[in-house]
Amino acid sequence: MSRIFSGVQPTGNLHLGNYLGAIRNFVRLQEDYECIYCAVDMHAITVWQDPEELRGNIREVAAAYLASGVDPKKSIIFAQSNVSAHAELAWIFNCVARLGWLNRMTQFKEKAGKNRENASLGLYAYPSLMAADILAYKATHVPVGEDQKQHLELTRDIAQKFNNDYGTETFPLVEPLIFGEATRVMSLRDGSKKMSKSDPSDYSRITLTDGPDEISKKLKKARTDAEPIPEKVEDLAERPEASNLVGIYAALADMTKADVLAEYAGSQFSSFKPALTELAVEKFGPIGAEMKRLMADPGYVDSVLKDGAERARVIADPVIREVKETVGFLVS
Ligand code: AMP
Ligand code: TRP
Repeated sequence: MSRIFSGVQPTGNLHLGNYLGAIRNFVRLQEDYECIYCAVDMHAITVWQDPEELRGNIREVAAAYLASGVDPKKSIIFAQSNVSAHAELAWIFNCVARLGWLNRMTQFKEKAGKNRENASLGLYAYPSLMAADILAYKATHVPVGEDQKQHLELTRDIAQKFNNDYGTETFPLVEPLIFGEATRVMSLRDGSKKMSKSDPSDYSRITLTDGPDEISKKLKKARTDAEPIPEKVEDLAERPEASNLVGIYAALADMTKADVLAEYAGSQFSSFKPALTELAVEKFGPIGAEMKRLMADPGYVDSVLKDGAERARVIADPVIREVKETVGFLVS
């Protein structure tokens, strides 16, 4: 049986990359699979979060799931810290994962920066908690953006080592689901950096709650080169900014990049950008409006999260029990 799990950190500024790389795919998958979607607040605090802002951001992630079309009756939407299985299994995985494996994680290196001595221990152990998120439900498939591939490989390594060490077949080897034309959306200001929540420039990203004016301003300022739009996808290879905008258009319009080029080859970006703006406004307008409506009704969002946590516990609790028995803990 297939089961889907994924998570988004409640760290504010949810953007186009989060939507196209992840959340939109969450919606598509729920038609065919049992899906569990989480606001990973315990991951968020691996770097400092203001408590009041964090509370708001957890609700914002839930609102983004709902506004994008995740159905809370069909799928499970909840906050990670409300289900203790995540923390419990993460500790056991901390004792399975090897230092050498974690030392290879590029996201830790990027996030810790130069002052590695001052990074939290949680930031270092982050991938082990991520493995616990997924495997507490024995999930088999994980929809994410390209940047999470390495963490999912580590999840497989942890599952395999646990199974080998204890001579069991407790955990499945998860498959990443990285699909669509925009699995790695780049910054609008710099085609060599990925679009991120933490970029100091607001102009680097389009957020889910940006209105038509903001979307238009940001796309107008988006960096491009002076060449017209090419005919072939290969010709985008050395043009990161151009490739990014074409990819965003393709993903939003549900086309391939090749289709977009067939339509726009020879055009200048000055005429492509207004078409992209119109498309982005059309797709994001309703999502942003619905998110704002939901954020104004925290009672409803909280009730979805509470119901989701209860349903999540029903699945995770027996898994944790099985793991504790396997490890040799006394299970009462
Ligand atoms: P995060 O913002 O790190 O919590 O990421 C939440 C989800 O969005 C993960 O599945 C990421 O892989 C995905 N994601 C984040 N940034 C991007 C991006 N620039 N392009 C595509 N996917 C992204
Ligand atoms: N690490 C993911 C990110 O930053 C978020 C995440 C935490 C996650 N736990 C997960 C994604 C489990 C998929 C499955 O994007």
